[in-house]
Amino acid sequence: MQDEGKGSRQGRVLVVVTGCIAAYKAAEVLRGLQKAGCDVRVAMTEHATEFVGPITFEALSGHPVVTDLFRASTPIPHIELTDWAELVCVVPATANFLAKMAAGIADDAASTTVLAAGCPVLVAPAMNVRMWSNPQTQANLDILRSSGVDVVMPVAGRLACGAEGEGKLASVEQVVAAALETLRPEPDLSGRAFLVTAGPTHEAIDPVRFLANASSGKMGYAIAAAAARHGARVVLVSGPTALACPPGVDRVDVTSAAEMLEASKAAFASADCAILAAAVADYTPAHPADHKLKKDAEPLGSIELVQTADILRTLSAEKGGRVVIGFAAETGDAVAKAQAKLARKGCDLIVANDVSREDSAFGSDTDAVTFVSPEGAEPLPTLAKPQVAERLIARAATLLEA
Ligand SMILES: Cc1cc2nc3c(=O)[nH]c(=O)nc-3n(C[C@H](O)[C@H](O)[C@H](O)COP(=O)(O)O)c2cc1C
Repeated sequence: MQDEGKGSRQGRVLVVVTGCIAAYKAAEVLRGLQKAGCDVRVAMTEHATEFVGPITFEALSGHPVVTDLFRASTPIPHIELTDWAELVCVVPATANFLAKMAAGIADDAASTTVLAAGCPVLVAPAMNVRMWSNPQTQANLDILRSSGVDVVMPVAGRLACGAEGEGKLASVEQVVAAALETLRPEPDLSGRAFLVTAGPTHEAIDPVRFLANASSGKMGYAIAAAAARHGARVVLVSGPTALACPPGVDRVDVTSAAEMLEASKAAFASADCAILAAAVADYTPAHPADHKLKKDAEPLGSIELVQTADILRTLSAEKGGRVVIGFAAETGDAVAKAQAKLARKGCDLIVANDVSREDSAFGSDTDAVTFVSPEGAEPLPTLAKPQVAERLIARAATLLEA
């Protein structure tokens, strides 16, 4: 029997089970979390109970399972459960449940409880490959991510319906690891101030045309979200992106590299750590027009460019005892190029990212990065961006302590 109170060592996790074939895997996730020292409670959708009986989860968790808002053992179960939980883990998550979460629908015990959650929420989707690749499902996931929900991505493989492809629930170990990573209270960054930059910059050619790059901003936003989750005050200096500002983060919107430099310098003045994940343009048009250039009257055969200021080098030069972390998005030889960049710029750490890899491309949801510091190169496995962000924040905390 698990700890009944609020004193479990690793955290209090509410597992929400929805109507998938993989529902039985939630029992293994529950066990894995308990083995790691968590206290676990369970809520189920009505359809989930078609796949596994609540009695299984009751016996394993040692707690009543909530399946019905109006016939539960407590009068207001969704509030009682979410007051208690430190993490809500929807595993497995149906396409239907993701859609309901994205739309804020609360029409049963499980969805009402998830909507009421004030703690981090993690979803581990599982479904048929066509349901997974349906643009509506992907749009729902984008909405959830931008509101701070962590996603444990499904993997490719043979699905229960017999089809081959993406949509298979991530392994139990991956789900448990992601849950523990989201839960882990360390490092405690309260009292620390972070500057994070994200996204591309737009360099004006004229009022309607600009030079830009393919950065989505997802990595920088994930880093800002992770730093805030660990208690830091975070200023996010963001180039133009379609992403929502993570909870608890102050965002400063900029457009050009020059604006990003000024906003970064201002935020760095009161920061302990700068993580510069933006893909800042290296060049900007020397003479941007103040009016829209006309194709016939002012043909644009070439654009004279000048170099932009180097934000990473500028902040590194004035960092003193503070921590500055840069990114190197390279196509090939990323680690060697990052080592050279580290020496050139004088920062504490470079996150090397080979963006020519499919699992690490601009705009992808995963990254395979290497932390490059004067001590050496530390490759990480392919991870979802929020997990890379967690690892980076842990590393930044170590550098801050040093
Ligand atoms: C045998 C069977 C297996 C199913 N497996 C899945 C699944 O893996 N993923 C999914 O999104 N939906 C799956 N469904 C469909 C959902 O059960 C259905 O969309 C249901 O309305 C989901 O309800 P819930 O989200 O409230 O649990 C399955 C349905 C059946 C009959």
